[in-house]
Amino acid sequence: MSSRPTQVIRFHVRHHAAVMSGEKVTTVRWQEQVAVGPATFVFGDGPTAPTLTGRVLGVETHPLPTLSAADARQPIGTDMAAFAQELRAGYYPDMPDDTEVQVVEIEVLDEPRPTRWFAERTERQRHAYARRFIDIASDGKDVDGEARLIDAMATPGSTVLDAGCGAGRITHALSVRGHRVIGVDADPILVEAGREQHPGTDLRVLDLVDLTPHVGGPFDVIVCTGNVMTYVEPGTERAILAAMATVIAPRGRVVFGFHTDRAYTVEALDQDASDVGWHLEHRFGTWNLDPFTGESDWAVSVFRSA
Ligand SMILES: C[S@@+](CC[C@H](N)C(=O)[O-])C[C@H]1O[C@@H](n2cnc3c(N)ncnc32)[C@H](O)[C@@H]1O
Repeated sequence: MSSRPTQVIRFHVRHHAAVMSGEKVTTVRWQEQVAVGPATFVFGDGPTAPTLTGRVLGVETHPLPTLSAADARQPIGTDMAAFAQELRAGYYPDMPDDTEVQVVEIEVLDEPRPTRWFAERTERQRHAYARRFIDIASDGKDVDGEARLIDAMATPGSTVLDAGCGAGRITHALSVRGHRVIGVDADPILVEAGREQHPGTDLRVLDLVDLTPHVGGPFDVIVCTGNVMTYVEPGTERAILAAMATVIAPRGRVVFGFHTDRAYTVEALDQDASDVGWHLEHRFGTWNLDPFTGESDWAVSVFRSA
C-alpha cells in the first residue's frame, strides 16, 4: 500500500463556504506543484475551518500578463490586474508580473477520507467489528483494560476525547466511570452500532483531521487506541496530532496504543508529538503496564502536553 501523502491545497479561510458548496471550482496558483489527482483542501493557517477531501480535475498553465477572465474562470469583465494584485496580497507577495500561473480545476467529494480502515475493511467486516467487543464481553472476557488505565491517570470527572472510538467501547467504559467523554470516529457503521449498543454515550462521526472546531474541548485526556493511528489516511498523521494539540488541555495527557509493526511507527509518533510540543511521559508494552522493550509488539505511549 502506498503511504504517499495526498497533495494539500491551501486556501484563505474566507473561501471555505464557496469551495464546500461547489460554487468555487477553480483556483489560480503560482509555483505550486499541483497535479491532477486526489487532494486535501485546507483553509486558513491553523485548522480554522474543516478541511475538505476532493480532487484536482485539471491544471492549465497560462502566462500571467495574458491571463484572461475566461482563462481564470472569473466573471466577464473582471479586472485581471486587480486579480493578480489579490493573488499577491493573499498568497504570493513575491510573484513577478512576467511569470506563468496555473489555473487549477477542483472538485470536492462527499465521500469520507480514504482512511486505511476503509481501504482494508469491507462493509461486512466493519459490521462484524462493531459486534466484536459485545461478543467478547458476553463470553465474560475483559474489554475494559484501556479504560481502567485511563481512569487511573485521570482525575474524577475528567473531560476525555476517545479519538477513533469505533463502536464506543472505551467511550462507554469511561462514561460509566464518571468521566465526560466524547467519542469520534470516521466510520458511520461503527458509530451507529455504538449508539445502539451504548445509549446515552456521545458518539460522533468525524475524521480526526477535522477535530477542530467540531468537538470543543479542552480535554484533560485524549485516548487514541486500537491501532487508530495506523488506520488513518496515509500522510495525515501529523495533521491529526496538530488537530489534537488544539483541543488538549494544558498539561493534559494524550495516550496512543498501536502495534509496533505498522507503517506508522513509535519513532514517527515521537517525532510528530515532539513537533506539537508534547513530551513522552511513559511507554508500556501492554495496557497492564508490562515494560516496553525492543521485542514489544504493542506500544502504549503516554504524552503530556505543554
Ligand atoms: C481497530 S478500530 C479501533 C476502534 C476503537 N478505538 C477500539 O479500540 O475499540 C480503528 C478505528 O480507527 C478509525 N479511524 C481510522 N482513521 C480515522 C480517522 N482519520 N478519523 C477517525 N477515525 C479513524 C476507524 O474508523 C476505526 O473505527
